[in-house]
Amino acid sequence: MSKQSVRDIDVAGQKVLVRVDFNVPQTSDGQVADDRRIRGALPTLKAVLDRGGSLILVSHLGRPSGDPATDAPFRLDPVAARLGELIGQPVKKVGDTIGPEAQAACSALQPGGIVVLENVRFNKGEKKGDPAFAAKLAGLADCYVNDAFGTCHRDEASMVAVPEQFPADRRGIGFLVEKELEILDTLLRFPKHPYVAVMGGAKVSDKILVIENLLKKVDRLLIGGAMTYTFLAAQGVPIGSSRVEADKLDLARHVLEMAGEKIALPSDHLIADKPAARAQTRVVGRAEIPDGWFGMDIGPTTAAEYAAIIKQAGTVVWNGPMGMFEVEAFAAGTRAVAEAMAASPAVTAVGGGESAEAVEKFGLAEKVSHVSTGGGAFLESLEGKAFNSLKVIPDR
Ligand code: 3PG
Repeated sequence: MSKQSVRDIDVAGQKVLVRVDFNVPQTSDGQVADDRRIRGALPTLKAVLDRGGSLILVSHLGRPSGDPATDAPFRLDPVAARLGELIGQPVKKVGDTIGPEAQAACSALQPGGIVVLENVRFNKGEKKGDPAFAAKLAGLADCYVNDAFGTCHRDEASMVAVPEQFPADRRGIGFLVEKELEILDTLLRFPKHPYVAVMGGAKVSDKILVIENLLKKVDRLLIGGAMTYTFLAAQGVPIGSSRVEADKLDLARHVLEMAGEKIALPSDHLIADKPAARAQTRVVGRAEIPDGWFGMDIGPTTAAEYAAIIKQAGTVVWNGPMGMFEVEAFAAGTRAVAEAMAASPAVTAVGGGESAEAVEKFGLAEKVSHVSTGGGAFLESLEGKAFNSLKVIPDR
């Protein structure tokens, strides 16, 4: 079901409040370390400007405490500066969100202009979804566009109570959210088979709801990352000193039982004598991790097996690295999955967080069908959850 979008709103001469997710990683000196989320919003922002509208941009950055003494690193100035470079025009950054500076800048805003408001989470009303705060924020603009896919799983004021302040025909989603929802529709409702899910990362417990939901849809579930060792431990296989969720063995057994033949666990492992860059490493078989050694990555045989399955798939969804890919010595398994996805004719979607970082790092982001800008939002979507932030946007 498609949602009303920015395309459907006549923005000429209108001040458009666009909720963006500019919650981007920063360097130690506060600069933007990864601008993917900013670049992702550009099509929507340009469409508003090209059609004679002006932009009031609202975002959070990080999780500020509300104490101005410690919240300075969460100011949006570096993000606004990066946006100015990317969009190629001046961007007016103001020092508050609904205060006098914001009000003055928004009332002076002319068609084609851009105002970036201060971090919306500096206001206590944001987290609480406070209607009085929402009314003030909405009062700055004529219409509302949600292009913050990464925040769609949050019920904060700027995601739900603010759009509720506008008439239904003045609310829409942006192109980034539209694209994310289209790929999710493929993954959840219309996948082409064989459908393969690749799940990695540290904890089975973090992914259990996604795994349960996807198992109803996929043909194969390929497991990698540290969660492997919880599954192996649940089967009574020795795992040496590998990371394990000792209190989740029953949960892992439940997944194994539910998945039956669909699930694939690594048939070999890259192990290390310590979980660090300068460790000694070896490749061992499925049940051969010695005492005191750590599983750090899937082994080469597993990487080849998983790559072959991915290349023959119709749809692939991937979340979570296969090993500690930040360290080059343990990156081969994650790289093999990324390369297989890039080479596969399947619809290939990479879900947020670390796996998105991995495909970027390997220079393969442009070669997969979609890299989500959502971390939690992508996972919760795969769990099958419906978001209030999208319920308040009318269907087309
Ligand atoms: C994210 O990065 O997942 C979103 O920007 C949401 O941020 P949050 O987890 O702090 O709400």
